[in-house]
Amino acid sequence: MSTEKIYILAIESSCDDTSAAILCNNKVLSNVVTTQEIHRQYGGVVPELASRAHQQNIVPVVHQALAKANIDKKQLSAIAFTRGPGLMGSLLVGTSFAKSMALGLNIPLIEVNHMEAHILAHFIDDEEMVAPSFPFLAMTISGGHTQIVKVNDYFDMEVLGETLDDAVGEAFDKSAKLMGLPYPGGPLVDKHAKNGNPHTFKFPKPKVEGLNFSFSGLKTSILYFLQRETKENPNFVEENIDDFCASVQYTILEILMGKLELAAEQTGIKQVAIGGGVAANSGIRARLTEAQEKLGWKTYIPKFQYCTDNAGMIGIVGYLKFKEGLFTNQSIAAKARYAIGS
Ligand code: KG4
Ligand code: ZN
Repeated sequence: MSTEKIYILAIESSCDDTSAAILCNNKVLSNVVTTQEIHRQYGGVVPELASRAHQQNIVPVVHQALAKANIDKKQLSAIAFTRGPGLMGSLLVGTSFAKSMALGLNIPLIEVNHMEAHILAHFIDDEEMVAPSFPFLAMTISGGHTQIVKVNDYFDMEVLGETLDDAVGEAFDKSAKLMGLPYPGGPLVDKHAKNGNPHTFKFPKPKVEGLNFSFSGLKTSILYFLQRETKENPNFVEENIDDFCASVQYTILEILMGKLELAAEQTGIKQVAIGGGVAANSGIRARLTEAQEKLGWKTYIPKFQYCTDNAGMIGIVGYLKFKEGLFTNQSIAAKARYAIGS
């Protein structure tokens, strides 16, 4: 076995987190994430502001990642970066930075699909995580994505289903906004749901065939429901927030688990992994753990810092591609729409 040490600098800038990580082979030595607070006051991500904040953050974040890992840039073997999917103005910052630095250091450049990275994060060598074996099902759930993917090998993935409109994180955030909670509301819904009764209020589940998802109808039914209730009782939200959050979360989890069960049934695969920011939700974690007993699944949930957007997950893909010699050249451009396997 080769004992060569590969040092990868990874850069993630697809949405509103500027992140840089250093990996030594499949181990993360540092993983620095700067979350842009500016978007809070607007109740969602403002693309132009995100791009400007990435420009301000990228140099200090890369410096910090190198310093924390105690690595000099001359030791780097390659630079990996998120090429897409994401916001174009944001992707451009990370892409240009990675290209210039790789050119300056005369080392290989590796492009990474952000969605593949959410899945391959499971292969980071960490004592608190166990890597799934192939084939497995991966459900990526975050503010920008909702997909069920059949993972045959590191770079052989098939999207079985995805959202036709809003992502599941948006469903959490938009429901929270309707209740007057600040952005991002997902973690707050989770917190209130812990004290509420999930069967107090009923919301219709979308009728979408197969393994695709839809969340825009749920948002509309919550809006109408709240309009009706607050007309009769202006304090409705304040008085019912825990039960309301529990009921909204229950509906979302029923949709996610229903599709996952269908995917497991259709493929016969019982190894199930999740990733993305919503994988931090305590309800989905509990439901997956329950499914191990009830359905005989083996489930994989990454550590929280590898669920939300981070460069560590970009770095593991960088390492896996490095081993295969899958490099890219300086003519590469960012790609806002970038399907898995394309
Ligand atoms: O992966 P991520 O950091 O960024 C994107 O790629 O979007 O995911 C952010 C999303 C937000 O919608 C946020 O509300 C949601 O993940 N989220 C949660 C929880 N923690 C983060 N949703 C529900 N429960 C949570 N505990
Ligand atoms: Zn993401």
